[in-house]
Amino acid sequence: METIKKTAYRPLWHFAPQQNWINDPNGLVYFNEEYHLFYQYHPHGSTWGPMHWGHAVSKDLVHWEELDIALYPDENGTIFSGSAVVDWHNTSGFFPDEPGLVAVFTSHLEVKGEPAVQTQSLAYSRDNGRTWTKHEGNPVLRVADKPDFRDPKVFWHKDSGKWMMVLAAGQTISFYSSPDLKVWEHESEFGDGIGFHGGVWECPDLFPLTVEGTDESKWVLLVSVGDNPEYNEGSRTQYFVGEFDGSAFAPDDREVRWLDFGRDNYAGVSFSDIPEADGRRIYIAWMSNWRYANHVPSNGWRGSMTAARTLGLKRLEENGELVIVQHPVEEIGTYFSRVAAEVEDLLLADGRKEIIDCKLDAFELRLDAEQIEARELGIVLHHNEEQYTTITYSAEEKELALLREHAGPHDFSDMFAKPQHMKLQGSAPDRLRLRILADAASVELFLADGSAAMTSLVFPDQTCQKVTLYAVGGTAQLVSCTVLATE
Ligand code: FRU
Repeated sequence: METIKKTAYRPLWHFAPQQNWINDPNGLVYFNEEYHLFYQYHPHGSTWGPMHWGHAVSKDLVHWEELDIALYPDENGTIFSGSAVVDWHNTSGFFPDEPGLVAVFTSHLEVKGEPAVQTQSLAYSRDNGRTWTKHEGNPVLRVADKPDFRDPKVFWHKDSGKWMMVLAAGQTISFYSSPDLKVWEHESEFGDGIGFHGGVWECPDLFPLTVEGTDESKWVLLVSVGDNPEYNEGSRTQYFVGEFDGSAFAPDDREVRWLDFGRDNYAGVSFSDIPEADGRRIYIAWMSNWRYANHVPSNGWRGSMTAARTLGLKRLEENGELVIVQHPVEEIGTYFSRVAAEVEDLLLADGRKEIIDCKLDAFELRLDAEQIEARELGIVLHHNEEQYTTITYSAEEKELALLREHAGPHDFSDMFAKPQHMKLQGSAPDRLRLRILADAASVELFLADGSAAMTSLVFPDQTCQKVTLYAVGGTAQLVSCTVLATE
């Protein structure tokens, strides 16, 4: 496919389509040394429309190559979100010769004058995802009277020797099992009376994670929650930690936990079939929000994905609670391998500014500070003379904020310019360790060893001219601030 030159807002290293609209990542799977990213794609416009599965591949989760459309609408409907797995042992019968890929997706059928119908369908590929054949017996799962019944995430459950499917059913998550991906049996429902229900439940994912520093394994259930104008956040993703016995999910507690404190992380799911020797749980989300996704500035294309991240589980010392920790995948560290600027061991005086000159289209900034007596420690990313994004930290409040009001256009939504906040749990850490990933139209923050993340779109004319650091109402000791760029 022809590559379009860099245009305003086009990310350098986050995936975005050459043309037209994308939303959710779909069918994330690793196979034959390629990471596959399928995604909700409307090939005839830059707003949401009849859904196809677009397709991109990567060797390193940083450089993506867009390929031809993988799945087109058919008589069962348009192609909504879903997952892909490697059928290693030909349980499906689709692969008499060699293992291949099976996509499990929602067929969304709209017939004039009738309510839309959502069923689950299969397609398979024997050529590394380049071409696909729809299964003749589609749809493989149909349940009457469930208008919202979608986004199947399938995985092989070793202990029970079966495929499991989690899918969103309006306000609950349905669990199904199958020996062959074709015949599905209902196992259980989860979600009634628990979790946040301020919007339609979508795009679930279920996977085990090991608690950091232990051998303990827990199951994590991600549930994205659609936009509802009654709330300020738009669409966002919650998660539950608990046990899964091959049939039902039992949460450890009734807390509502959010995966990301920014506005632009939605419908994220994890890769299937990452080799055991690698062992990572790698996750990518759509970097937008249903509140304004159709209206963000665009240039013939609209929508991008977050950085690929690894997910882990950490037990908080303060209260014993288990929380998800997320880190940019290490491949991003390899991509940003050149030190473009560095400041070390500096006392940030009250009311003073430190300026770091760096003209970059994409970068990572790592900040390490201690003895933060200042009421506010600030980092300003100056996109150009007029446009900037501000990140502030208050040690007393244990709160980090991202302000994008001056970061470029925001008049497409009342909500976009509002500050975003995240509060650290437990006692204030002695040290502030912050990682910032910046691209042409996004800022992703990782704080407190990954236990707090904030993903934000911004639409400046340029990515960065310089960075300033400041302290107000006291001092802060800067251990280091490093700006990393590509070679
Ligand atoms: C989530 C979602 C899914 C659906 C898809 C349609 O963003 O609404 O539930 O399958 O997008 O594009």
